[in-house]
Amino acid sequence: MALVSATEMINKAHEGHYAIGAFNINNMEWIKAILLGCEAKKAPVMLGVSEGAAKYMCGFDNVVAMVKGIHDSLGITVPVALHLDHGSYEGAKAAIAAGFTSVMFDGSHYPFEENLAKSKEMIELAHSKGLSIECEVGGIGGEEDGVVSAGELADPEECKTIADLGVDFLAAGIGNIHGKYPENWAGLSFDRLAEIKASTNGKPLVLHGGSGIPEEQVKKAINLGVSKVNVNTELQLEFAAATRKYIEAGKDQEGKGYDPRKLLKAGTDAIQAKVEDMVENYFGCAGKAE
Ligand code: 13P
Repeated sequence: MALVSATEMINKAHEGHYAIGAFNINNMEWIKAILLGCEAKKAPVMLGVSEGAAKYMCGFDNVVAMVKGIHDSLGITVPVALHLDHGSYEGAKAAIAAGFTSVMFDGSHYPFEENLAKSKEMIELAHSKGLSIECEVGGIGGEEDGVVSAGELADPEECKTIADLGVDFLAAGIGNIHGKYPENWAGLSFDRLAEIKASTNGKPLVLHGGSGIPEEQVKKAINLGVSKVNVNTELQLEFAAATRKYIEAGKDQEGKGYDPRKLLKAGTDAIQAKVEDMVENYFGCAGKAE
């Protein structure tokens, strides 16, 4: 199956009270591990790409070619959407032109009226090409230069205004944070989530910062209308820990253990195992591609 828009998989997840995992990719190892993990669990999946990661992978065209090539050579049969994560106005347009099948336009840093106007334009553009689109209301907290900002709470009225534009799924802050959660994190605001759900008439919601949220909170959020959970940091930590273990055990110095195909394998396998665990035990989307 070719790469697909995420609209159908997200709508099915929303109806079925489970979530689709949107796992960020960084390189070939990430793409292989995530696709193989989701294929093994028969889970539909979204591959998220930030603009920074796309630049690291030598541009949107190269990302599209690499994902398509790996997808086909591995014989992946589950639905896969290639999604731009936190796209800028220019970035979203460029990703659409390059052949992404889903985009996020993140206008949350603009004054609301400007976010609204740009989101409207981007929703029309994405839909005219048959792509799915996510927009964001209210910022998502996170770590920048070592300073962790608190997770913001999106305004339910603003969420309604953007939802009414016809966006396919909506990222709205409910106290979630990108990166590692600080010790004193207050947890997700389920009251705000319920308010947003009511004001947006049941629009599928996206939970950013999916790494490190306690399992019960993820499951409760899914029950309350979250249909997509974004994960980046968690896979990076798994990869780093497994690679560290390999090197600390001196395996890179045994035989040809320095060969990148061997050196990167432990980390790649760890990513795959974590993806399988999350789709099965956290998101509930295992078997949903069948
Ligand atoms: P984490 O890095 O916290 O998992 O966040 C991922 C994310 O939300 C990408 O948009």
